[in-house]
Order: sequence, then structure tokens, then C-alpha cells
Amino acid sequence: MRQPFQGRLRPPGDKSVSHRAALLAGAARGRSRLRNLAPGADVASTLRALEALGVRLERRDGLVEVESPGLDGWREPEDVIDCGNSGTTIRLLAGLLAGRPGLAILTGDASLRRRPMDRVAEPLRAMGARVDGREGGRFAPLALRGGPLRPLAWRSPVASAQVKSSILLAGLRAQGETVVREPARSRDHTERLFLWLGLPLAVDETPASGTAGEAAAGAPPPVRLAGPASPPPFELEVPGDPSSAFPWAVRAVLTPGSELEIEGVLLNPLRLGGYRLLERMGARLELVEEARVGGEPVGRIRLRASALHALEVRGEDVPAAVDELPLLAVAACAAEGESRFQGLGELRVKESDRVRAMARGLAAMGLPVEEEGDGWRVRGPARARSARVSSAGDHRVAMALAVAAWTLLAPGEAVELEGAESVAISDPDFFRRVGAG
Ligand code: S3P
Repeated sequence: MRQPFQGRLRPPGDKSVSHRAALLAGAARGRSRLRNLAPGADVASTLRALEALGVRLERRDGLVEVESPGLDGWREPEDVIDCGNSGTTIRLLAGLLAGRPGLAILTGDASLRRRPMDRVAEPLRAMGARVDGREGGRFAPLALRGGPLRPLAWRSPVASAQVKSSILLAGLRAQGETVVREPARSRDHTERLFLWLGLPLAVDETPASGTAGEAAAGAPPPVRLAGPASPPPFELEVPGDPSSAFPWAVRAVLTPGSELEIEGVLLNPLRLGGYRLLERMGARLELVEEARVGGEPVGRIRLRASALHALEVRGEDVPAAVDELPLLAVAACAAEGESRFQGLGELRVKESDRVRAMARGLAAMGLPVEEEGDGWRVRGPARARSARVSSAGDHRVAMALAVAAWTLLAPGEAVELEGAESVAISDPDFFRRVGAG
């Protein structure tokens, strides 16, 4: 229940970095060694997809050895590739498959089959791949026939690392310079890994590189890749996942007397937006960078229980906090005053409609959360009461509702969480971690 906890947490390997490391190791000719890959079902989907393409994997405690003939040696898969629940698997893999001959059919579970795929189908087609799918390629199953690619200058309408990464991975097989622009900066793990592996990528940091209007609007610099290029095999120990640590961070901040130290965690600023928003609400936290791994800063985050005040979230805050917003809605329930979250449209096309699922779950617990446009209005502080709530099959919603129950329930009340098992998508050990329950 609301016992204070003093703890240390070493989160599991970062999911985003794990997908990219596995795919690049799979695209590299030779033997790569990956340690501390994310343990959940999503990265398992990426690994299984690579096996279906002729990449050999050996899994031994904490280590995955990848032996690949290289992207050009991948075989045409004999069957449909099931990407499970994983948007990163289907979108990034589509990018790699766009540049090699043969047919591949990519599908996933009911949630993945509802998520928008036109955001990658369109640019990959513009590069020369044949991409079809339900409703003209808007939804999986996607049927992809890859081949020789031309380079592309693409302006993505959404700030999405999955879209940007899919195009950059396709760009490895294009003859010439591929350029990706996005309206706001999304996580840059693909860029960092490419640079660390010596691939010919550049990020134009000079404001003169975009149009004057873009620079004035604070648009991020374009990312450029000079294709074709092949990644070399490599060894990498994946840093801890700040998103998997975030439930525990929020729990520590909301539980009086608690302190938490998160160790070995990825400190990429484009992944710390949730922590920064928590800090903006009054949370006491400290970040210490200790090392660089695979081009990424890694270190520790210390947090203490803190009194929180209300928060205003706008569209520009979203990309760096995109996976942390359900938990920030929980934090807002404990904060003094009215919080408003706006510009969360991208949360509606995640593993579930997270705007709706969180508003429903928290409201069922008697918490003052309302859906308002593409966001929420939360009037805190409030205590929760007994309820039966649903994760909507979404790991981040399941974790956020569990943290709401652990931190906001009035004494003697209990919450029943349907679909709690969906935590296994990113953290199968979620309910066994420090202070759970
Ligand atoms: C991810 C990017 C984000 C995030 C997802 C993982 C990635 O999605 O929500 O959990 O690894 O690239 P978008 O890029 O679609 O915003």
C-alpha cells in the first residue's frame, strides 16, 4: 500500500535502443553481440522477425549473439511476419525491407492492425518500394516488395521517431542523399547509433540550413544520410530504459518519505521529457551522467517524494514525454490545482487510445480527470476509491493505472486491473520490482 520505499532500481534495457540495435546488427554482415536487450514481447517480435529473414540468433543469459549474412543476404520470408503489438518492429522493419528484393507481409495483433501505417507507406513508396495494405496501405497487414531505392527528401507531418527511423533505414539502400525533416524533434537513437557505427549521417545544427520560417518556428534540423551504406557488426550493452523506470519514479515522488535511485539509465534528453515535466510540477530530482554507451549518455536519476503543483502540457512538450504522459496524468491527480494536457493527438494512435483509456480508468477510480479535446483536464489533489479498471490491452496504461492504485487509493479501498498482463510488452517483471504491490 502506501508504504514509503527507499530503493534502487536498475531498469531493463531500453526498448527503443534494443529494437534499433537488433535491426542494425541483423543488417550488418558478420557477428554482433548485444547485451541487456529489453526483455519484453516487443523486442522479442523484432528478434523473431530477423530469424524469419535468415538471421541466426543465439540467446544466452543477458546476451544475444547475432550472426547475419547482411541485409543483402536476407532471404524472402516463407510466411507472414507477425510483429505482435510492436509499432517500432513493423515500421522500422518496413524501412529495411524496402531496399531489398522479395515479398514480405508484415502484420500484428488487433491493436497494431488499427494503427496508422500510411505514415511509413507513403515515404517508402516515394523511394521506390511497393507497399500495399488494407485501405490502400493505411493499415497492416502490409505487403512490401522491396527493390532499388531512390533517395528522398521527406517532410514528415508528425514528430515520430518510428517514421524518421524507417526512412533512414531505407536510406541505407538508396543511391544518394536521404533527408528527413519533422515538425518537432523526436527521439534520436537511430541517428546516434548510425553515427556511433560510422554511417554517413549528419544533422544540420546550423539554423541557416532550413528555411527562415523553420528556424523561426524552432523546427528541428534536418537529418541527412548519404546512401548507400552498410553497418558493421558491433557489440553493445543496451542502457536501462527511462520509460520502464518512470512508473517507479512517479511512485516514489507521490509516496511520502520515499527515495529512489535509478541506475544505469539512458539519459538521452529526448527521452527525459516526462522527468522534466515531473520536475516542473515540483518533484525533486537529480541527474548524474556517468558514461557514454553506443553514442548515448548513461547515468543515474535520484528522486524524492515531493509535494506537486498543477501542470500545463502543450504540444511541444509531447515528443520527449510521449510514453510518459499516462503516468503524468496520475501525478496530476496528486498535485494541487488544475492541470491541463493539450496536444496529445499522437497518444490516440498508440497501443490503445491512451487519452481515452486513462480518462476512463482514472475517472472510474473516482479521480477528477476529464477528456478535453486531445488531452485531459485534471483537478487535484484527490483520493481514489475502489474500482474495476481496464488496461485496454496497453502496457503503459496498465502500469499507470497500477501506480494510481498504489499511490492514490484511500485506505481500505482496492482496484482490480483487467489486462494487467499487458505489462509484459515492455517489462515482464513489472509486478515483481522494488516496492510493487
Ligand atoms: C518509439 C517511438 C515513439 C514511442 C514508441 C517507441 C521508437 O513512437 O511512442 O514507444 O522506438 O521509435 P513514435 O515515434 O510513433 O512517436
